[in-house]
This record gives sequence, structure tokens and C-alpha cells, in this order.
Amino acid sequence: MALVPVTELLLHANREGYAVGAFNANNMEIIQAIVEAAEKENSPVIMQASQGAIKYAGLEFITGMVKIAAGATRVPVALHLDHGTDFDQVMKCIRSGFSSVMYDGSKLPLEQNIAITNKVLEICRPIGVSVEAELGKIGGTEDDVHVSEREAMYTDPEEARYFVEKTGVESLAIAIGTAHGQYQGDPKLDFERLKKIKDLVKIPIVLHGSSGVSDESVRKAISLGVCKVNIDTNIREAFVGEMRRRMEENPHEIDPRKLLGPAREAVVAIIRDKIRVFGSAGKA
Ligand code: G3H
Ligand code: 13P
Ligand code: ZN
Repeated sequence: MALVPVTELLLHANREGYAVGAFNANNMEIIQAIVEAAEKENSPVIMQASQGAIKYAGLEFITGMVKIAAGATRVPVALHLDHGTDFDQVMKCIRSGFSSVMYDGSKLPLEQNIAITNKVLEICRPIGVSVEAELGKIGGTEDDVHVSEREAMYTDPEEARYFVEKTGVESLAIAIGTAHGQYQGDPKLDFERLKKIKDLVKIPIVLHGSSGVSDESVRKAISLGVCKVNIDTNIREAFVGEMRRRMEENPHEIDPRKLLGPAREAVVAIIRDKIRVFGSAGKA
């Protein structure tokens, strides 16, 4: 199957009340694991590459591997740029064949974020490439900020309404208490804020920093309008954790396949689990 635009997947999820998992793809094994898990759960899936992943693996390698994986499966696969903060990088991904991009102008003043998001939309709309924007600041768990400081970075519902009105963007990443990376404890999500935002904007909402969020909270967020859930840290933990276990068990192993193969299987298991929690199993 050819790569599908993310918007197509999210509008269906929005109508039916489930979410599509967006899984960060950093290497061949992880790409294979994401597709295998989606196939086993008969689920649509989004593979996303960050600017860091593109720098690591190379843009043509990422696009090439994902296209091969998508071409060999019957489940719908999208290829999405995660946190594109650089306009030129966004353009390179579109030229390379990504079916979706995130333009992340969340660190910019509101009007500048709107202006650049609109520039991206102007290019993407006629060619059917989906666009995700971000409003509010999703920090890292390592960012040393107080709860009150973190709340100040949360997405303002009225600002979200204004942003969507001025751009017509197709999906919106919001800050409601999640953060990227490994959490210390259980994060408290601001569900009231999510509800207010969804009442005002209607479009599919994207939850970043979802790895350490409990299944119960993720399900609740989905019931309130989240249609795309981003997972990277859980994949890293599963992949590297399994490799570490194998190396400790057999410190003399020198065949990379004996380490990478089980690591790939560990990623399949965690992604299957997430797909079931997100409710996208059986929706391919
Ligand atoms: O949003 C952050 C993702 O986990 C990507 O992380 O920039 O290290 O690839 P990365
Ligand atoms: P995690 O670090 O919680 O996996 O978040 C990933 C993410 O939001 C990618 O954009
Ligand atoms: Zn993110």
C-alpha cells in the first residue's frame, strides 16, 4: 500500500472515538516492528521521524525503509515528520515523500507560529500532505520546572480556537501536562482543559509525551478528543532494555542479529499493547 495522509486516519478515528498510535522510527528494526505490530492487530499506524532520527539515519534511508515496509503490508501506514521546527527540513521531508508533517512553532510568538504554519499549509494542501501544528509548550520530564511554571506553558483554549480559525490546520498538538521522556511519577493531565479545547476547535487533537501516561489516562484523553498518541520513550526502553538483558546474559555474543532480533520482538510486543489501549486494533 502507498503511504496514506495522517488526516485521513485521524478523521476516521475522530468519528469513531479511538486514536491512532504514532510511533517514532529510528532504525530498520523499529520500522519493521511497528509494521509487524500493526499487521498483527489489523490497525492503521503512523511512523514518525524526528529531525534527530533523520540526522541519524539519513532522510532517504528513513523514507526508503518506511516506503518498503508500507508497500509490503495491507494495513494503512503514514510517514510523518515529528516536531519539524525548521521550515527547510519540513520542505525536504515533503520532497522526499512524507505523507504528513508537523510544523512545530510552539516556541515562537503566536502570530509567527500562525504565519509559518500557514506557509506550510499552503504548500501541503494542494499535494495532499497532512499538517499538524503545536500550541503550548510540551516540555521534557528532565526540564526542572515547578508545576505552576509548567501550567503556564499549557495550551490556552481561546488561543487554540483563534489558532485553528486563522490556519485551518488539520490536527493540533496541545500541552495539558504531558512531557517527553521518562517521568518520575504519574503525570496529572488537565482533562478540563482538553475538554474546553476540543469543544472550541473540533479537529483531531494530538497527545505528545504519552509514554509514561497510564493506560487509564490515555483512554480518558481519547474519549475527550485525542486522536493521535505519540510514543517514543516506551520503544527506546523496550529496544535497549532487551539488548541490555541479552548482553548481560551472554557478554561474549558478537552477532548483532542475536541482540537486535530480540530487541525488535520486544518493540512488537509494546506496540501491540499500545494499539489495543488506543482502540485502533481491527480498524485497518
Ligand atoms: O518528541 C521527541 C521524540 O521523542 C523524538 O526525540 O529528537 O531524540 O529523536 P529525538
Ligand atoms: P514520549 O517521550 O513520551 O514517548 O513522547 C514521544 C513524542 O511525543 C514524540 O513526539
Ligand atoms: Zn512530541
